[in-house]
Amino acid sequence: MSVLDATPGGDLQALENELLEAIGAAGDLNALEKVRIAALGKKGRISLLMKSLGTMAPEERKAFGQTVNGLKQRVSDALSARKDHLDAAELAGRLATEQVDISLAVRPGPLREGRIHPVSQVMDEINEIFADLGFSVAEGPDIESDYNNFTALNIPLEHPARQEHDTFYFNEKADGSRRVLRTHMSPVQIRTMLQEKPPLRIIAPGRVYRGDSDQTHTPMFHQVEGLVIDTETHMGHLKWVLEEFCKAIFEVDIVKMRFRASHFPFTEPSMEVDIGYTMVGNEMRIGEGDDWLEILGCGMVHPNVLRNVNLDPEIYQGFAFGVGIDRIAMLKYGMPDLRAFFAADLRWLKHYGFLPLDVPTLAGGLSR
Ligand code: PHE
Repeated sequence: MSVLDATPGGDLQALENELLEAIGAAGDLNALEKVRIAALGKKGRISLLMKSLGTMAPEERKAFGQTVNGLKQRVSDALSARKDHLDAAELAGRLATEQVDISLAVRPGPLREGRIHPVSQVMDEINEIFADLGFSVAEGPDIESDYNNFTALNIPLEHPARQEHDTFYFNEKADGSRRVLRTHMSPVQIRTMLQEKPPLRIIAPGRVYRGDSDQTHTPMFHQVEGLVIDTETHMGHLKWVLEEFCKAIFEVDIVKMRFRASHFPFTEPSMEVDIGYTMVGNEMRIGEGDDWLEILGCGMVHPNVLRNVNLDPEIYQGFAFGVGIDRIAMLKYGMPDLRAFFAADLRWLKHYGFLPLDVPTLAGGLSR
């Protein structure tokens, strides 16, 4: 029997019954989709009936068209009702079987395995302390120009300080200039003063390089530079900032500090700062006692440096300091050998490292 023979109320009724029955019997979305294609797909039975309209005489076409349209509508409605039903049933099934026990302990994952390196931890602590004092963080590249690393900092070509730094030099360029692996963080002073207008309050933590290696020296180590430039900055400000910093980083209420006259080409006057400590058994008590440890260099920014960045020393002055970060980490967390810091030994990191979610904050405690 061809669908073309179908007459309204006859075979069409049989077709409708058959389709509605198949829809009701479809047990899942896949089966339902098959029924839909068989009825309404390109070569589906209803679709073929619609196509056959084109071959009919106009008077026949009208009545037959209405009937087929009605059929199509009822089958579509039945399909979507069945789909809603199957969707709901599937969801109910999943809700019943896929239960999550939210009272179970968290499975140990990568976050518990990983450790923050003590140097990163101390850098975060330092950033946190200086942010509280109103400093922002400045940056510069590890590969610096000779000019920024030395000349602009009042260290001219034949100055002996260049030898003291055991500098790693790159090959000379055609124009005679050469680049270096920065030997200290002070070039970031120059970059900052050239880019921004005073008042300035910045710190710059980063890697520095010098050809030197023993128990307390590695060819790459870390420093944080500090720079304050304003119109009425003096040594009292310098001393206060460094005292606040030392108390905060070592997490003690009083720190014995000693400012020793020293020399840096880029500061005048220049000082080195020692902090008092005492040994109790194997433990190092920081801030008290009669032994001294050097932890940083500092001073008032040299007028020549200000001139090199086009600041008038008659109007502006300020102070700078440079702190050895690895040094601080060794002291604070009792790690005797600096070389172990960079040996990438997982056992060492497990022992001395910090949990990633223990982020240092002043309010919550820096090291806990
Ligand atoms: N740049 C000096 C160093 O690496 C430290 C320092 C910084 C001293 C700023 C004074 C002022 O040795």
